[in-house]
Amino acid sequence: MTKITIAIDGFSSTGKSTVAKQLAKALGYVYVDSGAMYRAVTLYAMQNGYIDSAYFDKESLIAQLDQISISFKFNENLGFAEVYLNGKNIEKQIRTLEVSQFVSQVATVSEVREQLVKQQQNFGKNKGVVMDGRDIGTVVFPYAELKLFMTASAEKRAQRRYDELIKRGDDVSYDEVLKNVQSRDHIDSTREDSPLTIAEGSIKLDNSNMTLEEQFEFVLKHSDEKIRDVKE
Ligand code: CDP
Ligand code: CDP
Repeated sequence: MTKITIAIDGFSSTGKSTVAKQLAKALGYVYVDSGAMYRAVTLYAMQNGYIDSAYFDKESLIAQLDQISISFKFNENLGFAEVYLNGKNIEKQIRTLEVSQFVSQVATVSEVREQLVKQQQNFGKNKGVVMDGRDIGTVVFPYAELKLFMTASAEKRAQRRYDELIKRGDDVSYDEVLKNVQSRDHIDSTREDSPLTIAEGSIKLDNSNMTLEEQFEFVLKHSDEKIRDVKE
């Protein structure tokens, strides 16, 4: 069977991971959430006192990078792979607003990126992978047969993320979620190493007014076409 590589990039809370999971399931591919890996390193930095709202001890984090082991394990009940940090399931812990408030700073560190990109490329070495993030089509898999770039208005994205956090039982306000979304958009798009940009050849999708079903249909159509093209 012909397998391709699918790279999904875009801004926070645009529905990348939702559509990537659906696509991986439909195609029988592996789904990798690269953002979860940056969140895992951020959690490690927080747990070890390398980052808080007042400072970021980058050098100590860099010195400890070889102590960080990130893995994914498929959870049959959830239907996707959960992330583990040094053998411990951290899937829930990494989704908090607090981790979101530090993750973009951690993601500016080239040494962190280098280590994670290597692991991501290894996950994709046999193709048949759907990976979402910020630099997947530009840096991780520049040769990906299908590249998608997802966007939506900041207000819509903040509302989606806010609803999600409230459903989890987190105590957050819409305003702080919006502020976080906007601040991450800015840091992710302007950092020096691997900024969020639209990779050449990407299919753009603004889903501000699209349902999950509509966006999935759109993406599945494009991936079916690509798989057909590659076969011919
Ligand atoms: O789910 P959400 O879109 O809010 O974020 P995420 O995909 O979990 O990514 C969290 C953060 O990790 C992003 O805001 C980026 O700072 C960083 N990231 C990155 O730099 N490169 C990637 N390939 C994935 C995430
Ligand atoms: O991975 P990313 O941060 O781009 O977004 P996500 O975690 O897949 O989606 C964030 C939230 O927005 C989820 O609760 C989705 O169900 C919701 N969403 C939506 O309601 N409609 C869309 N068209 C896209 C996402």
